[in-house]
Amino acid sequence: MEVPALRGLSIEIGRGEHVAVMGPSGSGKSTFLHLAGALDRPTKGRVLIEGRDPNRMSDEELSRLRNELIGFVFQTFNLIPRLTALENVMLPLMIKGVNGEKRVGRAREALELVGLARRINHRPTELSGGEQQRVAIARAIVTNPRIILADEPTGNLDSASAAEVVELLTKLNREFGVTLVVVTHNPEAAAPARRIVKIRDGVVYEEN
Ligand SMILES: Nc1ncnc2c1ncn2[C@@H]1O[C@H](COP(=O)(O)OP(=O)(O)OP(=O)(O)O)[C@@H](O)[C@H]1O
Ligand SMILES: [Mg+2]
Repeated sequence: MEVPALRGLSIEIGRGEHVAVMGPSGSGKSTFLHLAGALDRPTKGRVLIEGRDPNRMSDEELSRLRNELIGFVFQTFNLIPRLTALENVMLPLMIKGVNGEKRVGRAREALELVGLARRINHRPTELSGGEQQRVAIARAIVTNPRIILADEPTGNLDSASAAEVVELLTKLNREFGVTLVVVTHNPEAAAPARRIVKIRDGVVYEEN
């Protein structure tokens, strides 16, 4: 049986915006985010990222677009367990072909920016949830993406760590002009957004 996850949903997000996407479980928030970040292809409809249609790109162009333009942050952090924080953050740079020395320098800078300069040689299991998410954010920003897409970034965190992560993401938007889209159930995570889009049954039902 076909289950349409989104139906007639239309969202336009401008450069530098900070948008929160909210809605009940199963309403299509993750589907929307995956389409917006070209992690999935739509069966119908169209996605344009900076005016370009990912559906018309080769797999190689698509991975370059994701690697260079977009940083993803997930609820479950998605760090590689056997790698240290530094190695996890270096990964996107390896994929991009940045040379070894530069890789280390830029990964260190990203970890400093998220406040983890003293944890770079720790593995994920040796870090708290909040620290793991900050490593994931460092990994998302190490390539200087213009867009950050975060799916429930505070969903697995206690309220203090959640507040830190929200503050950090907000800072990336305010200070560095990164376009930020945060899918969340958490009103506190949505609060700093300048625009809140509410989705239900695959359509936008409220915007403010
Ligand atoms: N791979 C899939 N195959 C089939 N149906 C799917 C798939 N992924 C999601 N769906 C369906 O699409 C709809 C939207 O799912 P989606 O994951 O986008 O919701 P969500 O708003 O992110 O929910 P949650 O808050 O629980 O994360 C749901 O009805 C879901 O069951
Ligand atoms: Mg989801």
